[in-house]
Amino acid sequence: MPLTFPDGFQWGAATAAYQIEGAVQEDDRGLSIWDTFCRQPARIQDGDTGDIACDHYHRMEEDVALMAELGLQTYRFSVAWSRVLPFGKGAVNLKGLDFYDRLVDALLARGIQPALTLYHWDLPQSLQDLGGWANRDTADYFAEYAALMYDKLGDRVTRWITLNEPIIFTTFGHRTGVMAPGIRDLGITAKAVHHAMLAHGKAVQAFRGSGRAGEIGITNANTSFEPADDTPETAHAVELARDFDSRLFHGPVYGRGYPISVLRYYESKDAPFPIWPGDMETIAAPTDFLGVNLYSRSLIAADPGRGTGYRLAPPTLPLLPMGYEMAPHALGDFVRWVSNEYGRPKIYITENGVCDNTEPDATGAVNDTVRMDLLQGFLRGLHGAIADGADVRAYYLWSLMDNFEWAFGYSKRFGIVHMDFETLARTPKASARMYSEIIRRNGMEA
Ligand code: BGC
Repeated sequence: MPLTFPDGFQWGAATAAYQIEGAVQEDDRGLSIWDTFCRQPARIQDGDTGDIACDHYHRMEEDVALMAELGLQTYRFSVAWSRVLPFGKGAVNLKGLDFYDRLVDALLARGIQPALTLYHWDLPQSLQDLGGWANRDTADYFAEYAALMYDKLGDRVTRWITLNEPIIFTTFGHRTGVMAPGIRDLGITAKAVHHAMLAHGKAVQAFRGSGRAGEIGITNANTSFEPADDTPETAHAVELARDFDSRLFHGPVYGRGYPISVLRYYESKDAPFPIWPGDMETIAAPTDFLGVNLYSRSLIAADPGRGTGYRLAPPTLPLLPMGYEMAPHALGDFVRWVSNEYGRPKIYITENGVCDNTEPDATGAVNDTVRMDLLQGFLRGLHGAIADGADVRAYYLWSLMDNFEWAFGYSKRFGIVHMDFETLARTPKASARMYSEIIRRNGMEA
């Protein structure tokens, strides 16, 4: 029995500006916090930077042609804020805007629907110099930048994503410091979380105010939490993990505020959320869809000795090079959970994919069989969740091509197109052929 996805289901791929564009000094682009971070010693594996990345800035047309050849129906990309507003606010850089203008036109000319992410972690350095996400004004600057993009591209772009994975850029950027801007401070993390969510709400309001047609939502990072054993204590720990990881970023968007458990934890550490009257209403501005990113599951154990009350239990499944467990069932499981928890919102899977570092064989072919197996598993689970009632309308595979994997530099490959980072040659992998076939059939064998 073939597994067929619903009529009108869209198949796409996703990328992000700093991970693929390169050309960081060109056409008056301003610096972002990732340019700065990559220049600091020992921050990025092998001292890699996004200076060239996939050189997509110069090869955009070739890349769009490749997308068309693969049969993509939609493409999710992000705009580098500092390309269009080199200082984050104020003077607009028309050359930077022109790049995205041409990208959108190239996509539409090939019948590929653009899905535009406004923020995929590359805050303009000038705004970091003013305090970055710890500065409440950043939320307003973000809404102004968003309004500029609605104005310039809103006649052609009808799918907008405000923030990509606020949990990652707030906690990894401000608490553990392994991502830009490399801060380690819980008080700053609390501010960054709240101001990021405020920025999301303000950008949604600005979209409604722009009069543009189309839809807007947020993309969160997710993991499917599973209990390490079947005791009631562990079941409670799983709910706490969901509070800190999922409900912290979904709850306020759906009008439920931040989880009490999380607010109490931050207060107990003298790191309160700086919530002003009216903020939670702003953050709850109605959205049109929920963007779901998911790569794996996490096993959870109770840990009463810790402030949060839970910890990650050791993995039991085989690991991928990123350290994630191979857990293809996690996508369907998480989608079922989030769909039930928030009243069956319209969902786009804005990222799902596999780190598989397979290199070309002697014939030049890239047989990334681990990626192929896991992708099929993820899609089977997703199909099951849809059959159970989740309203999933699109799937964006991460990623179109191997790219700059943040603190891991170029050492981790997520692409269905292989990138030779010396020659910048693009070679579709076996998984790309498989994905094309899934798109063509709108499904696969069970
Ligand atoms: C991010 C991507 C990243 C991917 C794989 C997601 O968290 O949005 O930028 O490359 O995971 O690690």
